[in-house]
Order: sequence, then C-alpha cells, then structure tokens
Amino acid sequence: MDKIRKRPVILDGDPGHDDAIAWVLAAAADELDIKAITTVAGNQTLEKVTYNARRIAALLHLDIEVAKGRNRPLCSELIIAPNFHGETGLDGPVLPEPDHKLSDLSAPEMMAKVLRESEEKVTIISTGAQTNVAAMLLAYPELKEKIEMISTMGGGLRNGNWTAGAEFNILVDPEAAYNVYHSGVKLQMCGLDVTEKALVYPEDWERIRSLNNPIAKVVAEWFDFFFIHVSSLGWSGATTHDPCAVLSILHPEIFDIRDYYVDIELNGEYTRGATIADYTGRHSNEPNCACVVDLDREKFVDYLYEACSRYEGWEV
Ligand code: BDR
Ligand code: CA
Repeated sequence: MDKIRKRPVILDGDPGHDDAIAWVLAAAADELDIKAITTVAGNQTLEKVTYNARRIAALLHLDIEVAKGRNRPLCSELIIAPNFHGETGLDGPVLPEPDHKLSDLSAPEMMAKVLRESEEKVTIISTGAQTNVAAMLLAYPELKEKIEMISTMGGGLRNGNWTAGAEFNILVDPEAAYNVYHSGVKLQMCGLDVTEKALVYPEDWERIRSLNNPIAKVVAEWFDFFFIHVSSLGWSGATTHDPCAVLSILHPEIFDIRDYYVDIELNGEYTRGATIADYTGRHSNEPNCACVVDLDREKFVDYLYEACSRYEGWEV
C-alpha cells in the first residue's frame, strides 16, 4: 500500500487558545508533517507565547525545537490581547513543561533552514502577525520558490475585530502583512469573513470533552477559557479563527474560497491594518490571494471532533 504523502508545514503563531487548537489539528493530521514551530509576538509577549508553544509541543509529543521570532512588529509598537487569552496568553488548563530546548535559530532562520533542506515545497501556516514570515521573505527572497503556499488567519474583507476596519493579526504588524501580500508567493487568507462563521458552541466542545482523552479535555478547557471573553462580546459560540488556516488546506471542499486582489492599508486614520479586496477586479492587478469567505460549520466541527478523537490513549 502507498504511504500517504505528507505535506511539510511550518506552524508560525502566537499561542493563544485558537492557535493551540489549530496545532492540535495539524499534529493529528496524517497528511501533514510539522517541520518546525516558530513564534511571533501578538496575543502576548514573545517570551510568553514561546513558552506556550514549547508547552504545546510537549503536550502533543512533537519532536521538534521551537524557534523564537521577533519580539515586536517590523515598524510599530506591539499590541497584545490579554483580554482574550489571559495573562499567560494561554490561560486555562495546566500543561506539561517544555521537553525540548529552544532553538538557537531565530524564527526566520528556522523557516529558511526548513525551506532550504526540504526536497518538497513547504506550506507555512501563519496564525499570528506576519512579522516572521515577512522578515524571512525579505532576508531570503531566493527561497520563495520553495514555498508551496502561505495559509494565514488574518484580515477580514467585510469588517475588523480590533478596530472597525482591522483584524488583530494584521493590525499588529500591517507592514509585515503588506510585504507578504506583495511577495508573489501563493497566499490563502482565512479572514473574519469565514472565521466569525467558524463558531464552536458549548455543546460542541462538551461533545469533544466527552471523548475523555487528555487532549480532548485540554481542548475543551481552552474553549471554556476563550469563551469567557468572546461570549461577553455577544457571541453565542467561540469564534474559532486559527483552526481555519489548517482545515482550509486539509479540507478545502468545506470552504468557499474566492480569488481577489487584496491590499493592506498602512496609512488610514481609521483603517490602518484593513485588508482591502477588489471584488470587481476593475481596479487592480491579477488576484494575489485566495480568500476563504464561508464554510460548512457542522463539517468544520466534525473535523475538529474527529481530530481530537485521534488522541485516544494519549499520555501527558
Ligand atoms: C486572531 O487574533 C488572535 O487573538 C487569535 O489567536 C487569532 O489569530 C483573531 O483575530
Ligand atoms: Ca493567533
């Protein structure tokens, strides 16, 4: 029987509850081969999200070193989100301590190493500010051809969440996003258009909790914590943003994906960090971005449940 061809991926994020759930999905997927985890300041400071990433790697038994990225955006001051993710950036269940040393490489150096050494093109899954990805593209433009695609959670064509116009990940580092969107590399964007429809309801994570394996229980507790703030904003389910960047490459058939030219607003008084799409194609160049705009919510939740069920008998 043929072995499944695994797609090499780099996970770059700022965990963060939804980053962590995205990484649970990625680690459970037979189709993916996680080559590296890299961290970027965003939901919390770089030190905190890096510690979280290393604890998640230990929880998921990932035999890889985590590489720490830049501690601030390319040009602006850091914005963090303790209201959503707590003081640690990943408040909630107790996690195992890191079991691998932190890499001596910086995140962009680690990305470059993985790209250089890979025989196949590599997919970068970016679920935080795009600071590391941009820094790597600027420092090693010759490696662009080794990138299969960059699958991102960021932006929103209709609305923002941190300001009326801007979504958090893009707002944290608009200049980085600008460089990524102008890089010419194949890009997929899971913006708020889809991620605010990727609602996981309390009954959905109770079903996950009832799987009763250690990872399913942790995932349910992450939802418990994340939902405290999200529900105070009026949502009846948890807006499960970052897992969309993983599931939209694993199961594109459950998503509505449209090609548009998208640019990043850098200067607007009210709109800095907004992602502006040319829906008509009349005002711009060729599309530069596959924009994920909708999904089959029930199938999304089923895939999440199925991924958590794969951790039956897991030891923590
Ligand atoms: C994004 O911001 C962060 O708080 C989440 O982890 C997600 O990546 C949603 O706007
Ligand atoms: Ca994130």
